[in-house]
Amino acid sequence: MADTAFAFRALQAEDAAALTSFLAGLSDTSRRFWHGHADHAGEAAGWIEAIGRYDKLRLVVHHPDRADRLDAVVDLSFSLPADAEPERYASYGIVLDPTRTVRFGPCVADAWHGRGLAGALVPPTWEAVRLLGRDRVVLFGGVHADNHRARRFYRRCGFTEAGTFTTSAGPSVDMVLDLP
Ligand SMILES: CC(C)(COP(=O)(O)OP(=O)(O)OC[C@H]1O[C@@H](n2cnc3c(N)ncnc32)[C@H](O)[C@@H]1OP(=O)(O)O)[C@@H](O)C(=O)NCCC(=O)NCCS
Repeated sequence: MADTAFAFRALQAEDAAALTSFLAGLSDTSRRFWHGHADHAGEAAGWIEAIGRYDKLRLVVHHPDRADRLDAVVDLSFSLPADAEPERYASYGIVLDPTRTVRFGPCVADAWHGRGLAGALVPPTWEAVRLLGRDRVVLFGGVHADNHRARRFYRRCGFTEAGTFTTSAGPSVDMVLDLP
């Protein structure tokens, strides 16, 4: 990892096939933890369609000469539906300002898990978040309580637990980070 160079850039329309392969290649566990959809081509097409939309920024990672094979993606959402994170955080006594908050959802290809790739993506991601005028980061949809790797990763990045909630998928944890 330390001597591997990666390109880290915004998703482009040309990435449709690579994104479909990335989503199709995730293990069942990663898919369950991250977004769970089974229609990979449809999901990728939705992401391509949303390029440039006011509330979406999707970043992709690949070896500089292998744009056909994505190693990780970062999903940033700049809109916060009132009945999602704001309502949950309010129940913990935390007021989220939708003009200063971004929702964050990273996903690293299984082959790279535990090798520090997500950690390497964090500083440039926060730089983009700051450039877009946000200084508070919350997890998009929280993190599954049994996703121990992700919870440890977020804690190492400085996130703190704001509260817990339960969906049909089981218990989840909301975590928040105020950028310095
Ligand atoms: C969560 C995720 C983004 C982390 O990326 P990563 O590149 O594996 O993260 P890193 O290697 O930088 O850090 C992982 C940390 O978890 C630790 N870890 C690894 N396996 C673990 C496990 N089974 N249980 C607990 N901790 C674990 C590592 O030791 C490391 O912590 P440390 O640096 O303090 O030792 C990645 O694993 C992933 O994409 N998972 C599938 C999708 C997902 O869960 N996304 C998040 C949805 S909320």
